[in-house]
Amino acid sequence: MATDGSDKSVTIEALMNEQRTFAPSNEFTSQANINSPSIYKDGEDYEAFWAAQAENLHWRKKWTQVLDWSNPPFAKWFVDGKLNVTESCLDRHLEKNGDKVAYHFVGEPGDERTVTYRELYEEVCQFANGLASLGVSKGDRVAIYMGMTIELPIALLACARLGAPHSVVFGGFSSDALKDRIIDAEAKVLITCDESRRNGGTIALKSYADAAIADTPSIEKVVVVKRTGAKVEMKEGRDIYYHDLIKDQPKDRPATETDSEDMLYILYTSGTTGKPKGIVHTTAGYLLGASFTHKNIFDIKENDVYWCTADIGWVTGHTYIVYGPLANCTTSVLYEGVPNYPDKDRFWDIVEKYKVTQIYTAPTTIRTFMKWGTEFPKRHDLSSLKVIGTVGEPINPEAWIWYQQNIGGGKTPIVDTWWQTETGHAMIAPLPGITTTKPGSATIPLPGISADIFDEEGMSVPWGGGGYLVLTHPWPGMLRTVFKDPQRFIDTYWSRFSKPEENKWIYFAGDGAKRDTDGYYWLLGRVDDVMNVSGHRISTLEVESALVDHLDVAEAAVVGRNDPITGQAIAAFVTLKGHVVGNEDLINELREHVAEKIGKIARPASIVFTDELPKTRSGKIMRRLLRDISEQRQLGDVTTLANADVVKDIAARAAESASSKED
Ligand code: WTA
Repeated sequence: MATDGSDKSVTIEALMNEQRTFAPSNEFTSQANINSPSIYKDGEDYEAFWAAQAENLHWRKKWTQVLDWSNPPFAKWFVDGKLNVTESCLDRHLEKNGDKVAYHFVGEPGDERTVTYRELYEEVCQFANGLASLGVSKGDRVAIYMGMTIELPIALLACARLGAPHSVVFGGFSSDALKDRIIDAEAKVLITCDESRRNGGTIALKSYADAAIADTPSIEKVVVVKRTGAKVEMKEGRDIYYHDLIKDQPKDRPATETDSEDMLYILYTSGTTGKPKGIVHTTAGYLLGASFTHKNIFDIKENDVYWCTADIGWVTGHTYIVYGPLANCTTSVLYEGVPNYPDKDRFWDIVEKYKVTQIYTAPTTIRTFMKWGTEFPKRHDLSSLKVIGTVGEPINPEAWIWYQQNIGGGKTPIVDTWWQTETGHAMIAPLPGITTTKPGSATIPLPGISADIFDEEGMSVPWGGGGYLVLTHPWPGMLRTVFKDPQRFIDTYWSRFSKPEENKWIYFAGDGAKRDTDGYYWLLGRVDDVMNVSGHRISTLEVESALVDHLDVAEAAVVGRNDPITGQAIAAFVTLKGHVVGNEDLINELREHVAEKIGKIARPASIVFTDELPKTRSGKIMRRLLRDISEQRQLGDVTTLANADVVKDIAARAAESASSKED
């Protein structure tokens, strides 16, 4: 496959030599929600398959057509269907399960709040009434910028109740990032909190939000959830506290009827250009994909206590903390903070206390736990766990085995789930009652989903080979477009391999993958200029633009280099303006500058100053070489390079900066 000369082939050799397999135990299979492989056969007739599954949603009016694919790549699922997703997530559970716990909220400092389905319903209705009183109605966009408190899922659901699409912006993003997203979405209302809590400290979200909305004319009102009680500025006529807004609101509100294809939310994600893309998801297909995959990948049972450790600011939280679990009437844990507060056993303390049955986390977190050592999980009884999951990046077999042995007690199935913001829900993942797993492989496409691996020319690569991961027919939770930019939707995802003249439409995921001789998929990471740092997608261009935005910087190139904990780490190469001298202080200043522009997750791990950047004769920066330099590998082919000497110079400086760090 045409990667970039990095050591992907080495990685894949190691992965492909991974011979261990883990078949589900008879005991597990016999109790599993799905225990017959015939479901894959059913899934081949994918429209019929998803139509049958859609009976599990609550419809106000049934659809007339399962899939309208007459104007590809713009899909319509469940045409003419009417519903409101909150009726599937809340109303329909009230009669039988009103007293069942929806969320056990666990605050980082140790405060807790348990919310039943009825309480959740009532507060969602109150907030929906409150938002309506502020003028929010169907179709209006609402931006949400919060920490992980119980009001966060309530905010999403209150918007959904009104048919007002939400746009959640991760609470770790900067004012600038928030501002760009609000402007693009033209959001009318912003929901935020006074401060969020993280890592024993607080983050001044309201003041970041104030800075952002100084330049966003669309925002009319700001709702502020009190989390810490810190004194924050409240602008008269614009800002209102959440508790004041909902106080006198009725605990009931009829849901606004939406169409299957009305927008449920926008979620911005990094692409190969500097400007984040607003990924658009709609109601019925998305909810179906979320609930089906949640129930069956995690083998959810009535009395389970499920915990997805992601932040609701990312798609994993949308699908697997909010919509999927609630549609399945699941009890979830919602944890606010970091895994090492107050100590490195916080997760395991929570698992033991709530008798968590499924945990869903990220490889980077698992690798961090590995580094901390087994004493922390050993302090706790983790025997309640039945299925343990991972998402966000490839998991190396060593981390997989560690997870299985130390968290799963050597027996629970591991579900490694491959998917994207764009796909809406998991696409390649085991079904734990029937799939034999292999450490490091996300296994095979789920029933009703069809993937393939293509070579450069768009030909399917036979089993045993590698190439580009593609999806070959539409699926219910697929993104419908890029907000306000349908051309970008077509160009980014559907142009690489589709053949419109033959009416063949192929979704290009941007990931490299190999498929072994059993048909198992082994994900290899991005093949484009998107980095994956601790499971967060960050584009090289975004960070480059942030660096170049600094007064002293003339030019910048950014690459993701391999990192044992975070998967990739951001390595930046910076050319300074003539008069400026690069030193340690400037490195720190630049790192902070990027944090301010984008958020702390985008702060480069290393910055090397260089007089020039290696470029091809046509002026394109050769990131492949920079990656080699960052990983201190033998340098790849430099013959197409215009300024070959500069590479040696950069390599020397990079080595110097690496060794000075070790000192
Ligand atoms: C990567 C997160 C390997 C992949 C749900 C994808 C994975 C990007 C896996 C999407 C996995 C996600 N194995 N790689 N199990 N899951 N990825 O949009 O590169 O934040 O394209 O969605 O994460 O990231 P996103």
